[in-house]
Amino acid sequence: KPSPAAAPDRLPFSTVTQEDLAFFSKILPGRTVTDPDLLESSNVDWLKSVRGSSEVLLRPQTREEVSQILRYCNGRNLAVNPQGGNTGLVGGSVPVYDEIILSTALMNKILSFDSISGILTCQAGCVLENLSLYLEERDYIMPLDLGAKGSCQIGGNVATNAGGLRLLRYGSLRGTVLGLEVVLADGQVLDCLAMLRKDNTGYDLKQLFIGSEGTLGVITAVSILCPRKPKSVNVVFLGCENFEQLLKTFKLCRGMLGEILSAFEFLDSECMRLLNTHLKLPNPISDCPFYVVIETSGSNPTHDGEKLHEFLEEAMTSSLVTDGTVATEDTKIKALWSMRERITEALIHDGFVYKYDISIPVERIYQLVTDMREHLGGRAKSVVGYGHVGDGNLHLNITSPVKDPALLAAIEPFVYEWTASCKGSISAEHGLGLKKRNYIYYSKPSQVVAMMGDIKAMMDPKGILNPYKTLPDNLK
Ligand code: FAD
Ligand code: MLT
Ligand code: ZN
Repeated sequence: KPSPAAAPDRLPFSTVTQEDLAFFSKILPGRTVTDPDLLESSNVDWLKSVRGSSEVLLRPQTREEVSQILRYCNGRNLAVNPQGGNTGLVGGSVPVYDEIILSTALMNKILSFDSISGILTCQAGCVLENLSLYLEERDYIMPLDLGAKGSCQIGGNVATNAGGLRLLRYGSLRGTVLGLEVVLADGQVLDCLAMLRKDNTGYDLKQLFIGSEGTLGVITAVSILCPRKPKSVNVVFLGCENFEQLLKTFKLCRGMLGEILSAFEFLDSECMRLLNTHLKLPNPISDCPFYVVIETSGSNPTHDGEKLHEFLEEAMTSSLVTDGTVATEDTKIKALWSMRERITEALIHDGFVYKYDISIPVERIYQLVTDMREHLGGRAKSVVGYGHVGDGNLHLNITSPVKDPALLAAIEPFVYEWTASCKGSISAEHGLGLKKRNYIYYSKPSQVVAMMGDIKAMMDPKGILNPYKTLPDNLK
């Protein structure tokens, strides 16, 4: 019996012919890639867990080129896999069979920045870190930050509605993205690239594409509202004896640091072990069962320092935290953030990774890790928990020395049933992609899923855009 995560049979799309290649080479001279060595990295996902067999990678530079590609592919019934930085974690960013890969890597121009409103408009292929550097020179920052910043692109971030490390403070992309330009499956360019904070003229169509994982259109440009660069940033790394203390620390932190709190993240001691073993990152404090990374961002270093000091004193005297260290200068801030941001990297050195990204009421987030450890007994190599406490988002990761179908069968659907039993979401921020599409019913009623299918059928009647992804197989 195939796993629900496995791909369905290849759908009856056309295969690429010499005539097709001649057309692509004509509109994208020197940017139509067919060399198998060059295609290799675009056919495999970041986790090295799924692999496609595409023979063509297209690298457009403009929305007109994207439009020409899609109009042609739609006419020829050729399937297309939109790809940004290929850092997606649910098998959505690579082809399943021989879909044409449409990479946005060369669509990397900043189109405008308004230093009064803080609104940035850029092409979809801009790498997140490059946008951050551009903005920092102008005293602004991006409203999102994530460990994959050096490779992921803003178009991919929007297509997955990526959350990341700053969501607690600046909210989700559903609020900060002000406009999108999207090329639809038939090649039409949909101009929703508003640069306005307020616009209630009818349906907000751009929301459809945020989190649609390349199944409804190719995002070609984004306008986004950016916050001012904070004048004072502090990062604290603390240790807690148990998860209950950690939650109390979070509550205290919200109360005492309120308006300057910009992140509250956690990792368990198993994550610390993997960071030490695989990346040689030493623990900056003494060994504890749980660790938190707290970041404050404000406009007055003296004020922020005082508030932080009072919070730390209270947390220590009430024995909520057992040890800790504070960073105010850039190198140490970066080093402390590495302890949280590089867990994903440490995990891939541990073996094959089974990755879960769950939203549940914050009081229960660690219970799933504990229950999973008990449920699996000694069958997994590592079972670790980390995530965005401030957003009620747990990352439960399980590793095995090599891919292990028996272990997978023990994890799924247990993890999804557990999540559904507390009315949680089986994908808080990574999306559904190939791997999780058939589990959508654990988090969404069938009526809602059916309406998603209707929208897909209306916008992409031939289903050429990122087939086998996001929507469950029974919808087609
Ligand atoms: P890709 O991986 O290339 O694509 C992702 C999906 O979007 C695919 O379905 C693809 O078809 C689609 N897509 C890409 N570009 C476009 C486009 N222009 N138009 C339409 N569809 C498109 N995610 C979080 O939410 N929070 C995190 O904190 C976080 N941290 C991460 C840390 C690491 C180390 C890694 C490897 C990943 C992390 N992720 C995180 C996963 C996250 O989804 C991606 O990093 C990022 O948002 C994807 O961007 P990308 O450009 O790499 O897109
Ligand atoms: C994170 O928060 O580190 C990312 O979502 C990546 C991951 O889940 O590993
Ligand atoms: Zn995350």
